Amino acid sequence: MMKGQGQHPMLPHNTHDESSRQMFVQTMKLHLARQVSPHLKTVYRQRVEPELRRALGRTPKDRHDVRRGMVRDPAYQMWSSLQRTSQELKQDSQTEIAFRQIDTLADRAAKLGRGGKGTLRVDPTLKMPRYVSAVDIHIIPGGYHSELIAGDVLPGAVYDPGVFLYSMGRMGAYNEDMGATLLSYVKQTAPGWKPKKILDMGCAVGHSTLPYVDAFPGAEVHALDIAAPMVRYAHARAQAMGKTVHFSQQNAERTDYPDDTFDLVVSHILLHETAHAALRNIFQECRRILKPGGLMVHCETPLYAGMDAYDQFILDWDTYNNNEPFWGPLKDLDLKGICREVGFKPDSFFAKVQTSAVVDLARGRTKLFQGGDFGGAGAWFLVGARK
Ligand SMILES: C[S@@+](CC[C@H](N)C(=O)[O-])C[C@H]1O[C@@H](n2cnc3c(N)ncnc32)[C@H](O)[C@@H]1O
Repeated sequence: MMKGQGQHPMLPHNTHDESSRQMFVQTMKLHLARQVSPHLKTVYRQRVEPELRRALGRTPKDRHDVRRGMVRDPAYQMWSSLQRTSQELKQDSQTEIAFRQIDTLADRAAKLGRGGKGTLRVDPTLKMPRYVSAVDIHIIPGGYHSELIAGDVLPGAVYDPGVFLYSMGRMGAYNEDMGATLLSYVKQTAPGWKPKKILDMGCAVGHSTLPYVDAFPGAEVHALDIAAPMVRYAHARAQAMGKTVHFSQQNAERTDYPDDTFDLVVSHILLHETAHAALRNIFQECRRILKPGGLMVHCETPLYAGMDAYDQFILDWDTYNNNEPFWGPLKDLDLKGICREVGFKPDSFFAKVQTSAVVDLARGRTKLFQGGDFGGAGAWFLVGARK
């Protein structure tokens, strides 16, 4: 477990050497984000952009133009290679710690799962879509869904401390920043509203799910994920933390909830990990299971529209280097058009950047959203509509 992370019994235990290795990874990431990365912009302005202008015969207009020049620059190559190395070190160190405890953690999850009022459904027949099974997403070996033993929770045990490490603690002690930020938007725009049934899609280990339990004590909170190890871990974690959530292993594209079930359907960084056809299906499914007048909100990393071409390029690092094939392409989608096509109220579409609810002033924000400084920007992109 990392220093500063909110404790609960599902977190794997670290030996002294494991903690020390993790602290090295965290320090390396922070150094790259704070000390090295800002200089790349100077390299671009002074060395790469003038050459690009000459080669293109115009001003570089978007991330693709900037990329053409930057990938050939030795300073960028060095930073990018160190950035990739830090990510591989992170995943390796995290996976080794959890793997050493794989049986203990599965047993603990099974025991914790039996107490409390929350529920868990897993579906061994559920077929993994190719966008999940074909990619070791952000270089996690085996992705979210692979299972090595019966009742496996390993991917959850890698993900939970991994997010804390990746975000360098800036998403809150329980990595709750996205849920809390989406909630701050709901509370601002619909003060006094008390949704009775809430669904969190692509919940992973429930980092963003639990804030809804606290914010709406009378509500029935459901959460689904396509990966069984994630919902098993999420269920045990929630039980251990005394929060009642109904977790299930389901594909967000086609759930088993009846029509008109939920008042509020949310997701947090699910969309950029799904193929485009799947995203459309997910919007359509949200509309089907929402009650008339119900609200859909998805939380994502900020879009590139209106952003400086260099900033777009650096934010896009994950698309090419961190096994995140849909990260960049998501930013080019016409989300408003998709909402309209699947039948949301035409005037209800919204897209906005919302300031993070968790602002860790002690650690500071770099205002960057690049790999290795996830959560550092202090803002999330929210998109949604009403049925
Ligand atoms: C980046 S994680 C989500 C993080 C989580 N929402 C949070 O706030 O901490 C993406 C999750 O989406 C899940 N996922 C991907 N495609 C899915 C789908 N079609 N249906 C349900 N879950 C999906 C993955 O298994 C993974 O756990």
